[in-house]
Amino acid sequence: MGKATLSAWGRRLFLIALLLAMTGAVTSAQLRFMRNMFTSPVVQPQVAPRVPVEDTIPVDGTQILDKISSIDLPNPRPNTPEVLQEGAWLYGVYCAVCHGADGQGDGQIAEHFRRMPSMPSIQNRTDGLIYAIIREGGANMPAFADTMSVDERWALVHFIRTFRTPE
Ligand code: HEC
Repeated sequence: MGKATLSAWGRRLFLIALLLAMTGAVTSAQLRFMRNMFTSPVVQPQVAPRVPVEDTIPVDGTQILDKISSIDLPNPRPNTPEVLQEGAWLYGVYCAVCHGADGQGDGQIAEHFRRMPSMPSIQNRTDGLIYAIIREGGANMPAFADTMSVDERWALVHFIRTFRTPE
C-alpha cells in the first residue's frame, strides 16, 4: 500500500511543482497565452497613420476643381437632342423655380432674391464656369454638387446655351 500511495502523492507533487514552474516561467518571461491581438499591427494613439496600401486611394480619378480652375473645362457630352432634352428636364426641376421657366429670371421665388440673373444674361460665361456654378452654387444660389451627377450638370450646360439670344 505504502509504495502505491507514495507514488500517487509523488506524481501529484510533481505535477503541482511543474505547474508552478510553468506559471513562473510564463510570468517572468511575460509570455501571453493569446498573442493575436497583442502582436497585431495596431496603430497606437498619437502615432501618425501608416501609409495606405498601394492603390487604396485612387489618385487618378475625377478631380474636384473649384470655379476658377473649371473655367476651361470642355463639355464632354455631345450636343444631341437627347442630351438637350435631359438638360431641359433638369432645368425645369432644379432651376426654373428661381431663374424662370423661360430663363427670364422670374421664377416663383425670384422676388425673394436681391438679384436673379436671366439665362440670356449669363451667356458670356464659359461652359466650364457654368458647370462649376451649378456644382458650387453662388452667394445665394444653392450648390447642386450632391443633387446632380457630373453628366447631368454637363447636359444642363448644353441646355442653358439654348437661351443664347441670336445675334
Ligand atoms: C434658390 C434659387 C436658385 C436656384 C434654384 C438656382 N439659382 Fe442660379 N442663381 C441664383 C441667384 C440668386 C444667383 C445670383 C448669384 C448669387 O447670388 O448666388 C444665381 C446665379 C446663377 C448663374 C450666374 C452666376 C454668375 O456668374 O453670376 C448661373 C449660370 C445660374 N445661376 C445657373 C443656375 C442653374 C443652371 C440652376 C439649376 C441647376 C440654378 N441656377 C438654380 C439663384 C438660384
